[in-house]
Amino acid sequence: MNEETIVNNDPASADAGTRVETPAPGSPPTGEGVSRPLPDDALIIVPVRNVVLFPGMVFPLTVGRERSRAAAHEAARLERPLGVLLQSKPDVDQPGPQDLHWVGTTATVLRYITTPDGTHHAVCQGVSRFRVLEFLDGYPFMAARVQLVAESASVDPDIEGRAHNLKQRALEILQLLPQVPAELVSALSSVEGPAQLADLIAGLMDIGPEEKQALLEMFDLKARQDRLLDLLAHRIEVLKVSRDIDARTKESIDDRNRKHVLREQMRTIQKELGEGDEGAAEIAGLDQVITDAKMPEEVEKQARKELKRLERMPEGAGEYSMVRTYLDWLLELPWAADPDGAIDIAGARRILDDDHYGLEKIKKRILEYLAVRKLNPSGKSPILCFVGPPGVGKTSLGQSIARATGRKFARVSLGGVHDEAEIRGHRRTYIGSLPGNIIQSLRKVETRNCVLMLDEVDKLGAGGFHGDPASALLEVLDPEQNSTFRDNYLAVPFDLSGVMFICTANVLDTIPGPLRDRMEVIQLPGYTAQEKLQIGRRYLVARQLAATGLHAEQCGVSDGALMAIIDDYTREAGVRNLEREIGNVFRNVAVRIAEGSVVQVQVAAGDLAAILGPRKFEAEVAMASGVPGVATGLAWTPVGGDILFIEAARMPGTGKLILTGQLGEVMKESAQAALSLIKARSAQLGIDPHNHEKSDIHIHVPAGATPKDGPSAGVAIFVALASLLTGRPVKSDLAMTGEISLRGLVLPIGGVKEKVLAALRAGIRTVMLPGRNRRDLEEIPAEARDKLEILWIDRVDDAVGHALAAAPRETKPPASA
Ligand SMILES: Nc1ncnc2c1ncn2[C@@H]1O[C@H](COP(=O)(O)OP(=O)(O)OP(=O)(O)O)[C@@H](O)[C@H]1O
Ligand SMILES: [Mg+2]
Repeated sequence: MNEETIVNNDPASADAGTRVETPAPGSPPTGEGVSRPLPDDALIIVPVRNVVLFPGMVFPLTVGRERSRAAAHEAARLERPLGVLLQSKPDVDQPGPQDLHWVGTTATVLRYITTPDGTHHAVCQGVSRFRVLEFLDGYPFMAARVQLVAESASVDPDIEGRAHNLKQRALEILQLLPQVPAELVSALSSVEGPAQLADLIAGLMDIGPEEKQALLEMFDLKARQDRLLDLLAHRIEVLKVSRDIDARTKESIDDRNRKHVLREQMRTIQKELGEGDEGAAEIAGLDQVITDAKMPEEVEKQARKELKRLERMPEGAGEYSMVRTYLDWLLELPWAADPDGAIDIAGARRILDDDHYGLEKIKKRILEYLAVRKLNPSGKSPILCFVGPPGVGKTSLGQSIARATGRKFARVSLGGVHDEAEIRGHRRTYIGSLPGNIIQSLRKVETRNCVLMLDEVDKLGAGGFHGDPASALLEVLDPEQNSTFRDNYLAVPFDLSGVMFICTANVLDTIPGPLRDRMEVIQLPGYTAQEKLQIGRRYLVARQLAATGLHAEQCGVSDGALMAIIDDYTREAGVRNLEREIGNVFRNVAVRIAEGSVVQVQVAAGDLAAILGPRKFEAEVAMASGVPGVATGLAWTPVGGDILFIEAARMPGTGKLILTGQLGEVMKESAQAALSLIKARSAQLGIDPHNHEKSDIHIHVPAGATPKDGPSAGVAIFVALASLLTGRPVKSDLAMTGEISLRGLVLPIGGVKEKVLAALRAGIRTVMLPGRNRRDLEEIPAEARDKLEILWIDRVDDAVGHALAAAPRETKPPASA
């Protein structure tokens, strides 16, 4: 039985043997009487620390505390039951009424026992619940007037049904538990009366004393039964799960043992039959594979050494599989160089044209590169790096190059690579180590004369604790070193000089400097709407038709519809979303054709709303309403250019400048410079200079969640401020970019192509560019040059002249009021 105790700080007694005493009236174990008689409705109280005694339960209470002992003696003397109360604070040594629960169980003492270690126990049997009315003072023990709580005698079918369930579940639990005493099962089966059953189960439950106390205080039998049913159901679940886990663990151990024994037996049998074991045959096979792999001498030596080690090892040894895996890597790498087919330049040109629309300059550069490789195969050719926003065809150009040169194509993504080991592998001493991703992808393509695309070099993690991945990459790309590239795992040199490396990146700035120096950068700025239309018409439509399983006769898309997708459903420099939306259109059509509701569909612009939903993008220019203080700037982002609005507002204040919209340091500085310029030019602009100290200026750049930085918004900020303070709105279809100096000069900026394309996409008609960017004019696509009016500005004063609408005639500018 449970060994819980009321008190365990009882001083050891000298008495060694177990003494059993039956209490007799007038003869308490140690006798000292009490003068004042106890009222009839009072009980002698024994506080206990962590046992809840239920009616019907037998339990040995340890009587250690002086007062408890006195109580037990007095109860024995007077032949009165004890009142057992659970302490609400188990740590208190001399509990008072406030430290006890006020509902408990009356108990008769069956006998006293002193165990060999000298502890006194009163073996008690619970009789009935009681509730304390008041505690009584003036006795050497605790006493209280109480009210007994009788169990209601009426038994309705509800209660009986629950009692039946309770018994079933309790028996079920006993079956799930290991080593249950048989008496417990029979006690449970034979108990009579639903209340007695409930109390028996409550007493046996494996729950904390506070929870048991709660059950004791549930006087309503039905509620108590329900609570117990819940507890049992939970317990059964837990036991079942843990039994299943046990079974599974045992199974797997058994299985392993069985396999081991079987393997041993097989060995013995093979020996008996005189058959060499399989391992030897396998090793002999490997020997041949090494010969066939045409490895360089050093590698072959290493491979044979490892094979020797393998031969000596028992097959079950943990190291066996490590050596075996290593050998597999050595054997499966493409050591031998494939004869490089001569490059057919005319054929290559055809393939590039087949796969990609436009991109003339880029294709020309690629062909030059291929021609040089053809004429001087052993020469060190530069490493191409395609830089541009997502979806402009960087990866697919790489695939075309592979096709044009008859090579296989492999890709390694460098985005988020922080650890040198991801490129160069882990040493073999680490458990589970593997070669780096360069060697891994070469094993996959099975030839070292492949095109290997290193994607996202700009997102290569910075070097740190685990070595610098960029320097590992440098070694990979450096023609001087990469013929003996040493992967940490392989630990033998591998010749990478036959690999044609091509890198891609979204941004040039974040490519580590030494890497950038090794590469020949080719920029892909993005497409104009007309170019996208052509790409869509010539490539994407056919590709998506095939992907949905439709024939060209079944479904067509009008140019108008394609243009509407480009303008209203996508806003991107590349064509990836365009392709996705075209795919959405075709899937919609495919469903209708598969259903049999139509046989042929021609999609026009008007059908798009029904298929793709409401248009996703509005011409943003509409947002730049004619309010003074708003100017449209042009920004460069890794995903192509974008337009951004600069908003300025003025309020009474003390001349402060407030900047919001996640502006970077450089952008904040150019805002300050713009404000200083405005102040210096107050007279010229017709602004009252005294107003500056009396007002605060707030500049905000919406889309506040995206961080923005760079000096190129200077002109736009200046114009926004000038517009605010003069009350003249900025022309709504005009956008501008340019850095400003405190002398009022407009300085050149980068990313002109991307910015101009973004302006075109957003429906802008006029762009103001720094005069010193005229040299970039040639790079701007002809379509953009035709559609946009480009104003070259050299001084901020020109910008104000071009950008601000005439002052409203009847109202004076507020600033000069
Ligand atoms: N000029 C083009 N002609 C035909 N198809 C094109 C052209 N440009 C891009 N595409 C197509 O657009 C899709 C996206 O291109 P790709 O995957 O090469 O983009 P990416 O530049 O590598 O983008 P990311 O930076 O996100 O990797 C491809 O299916 C590609 O064939
Ligand atoms: Mg890509």
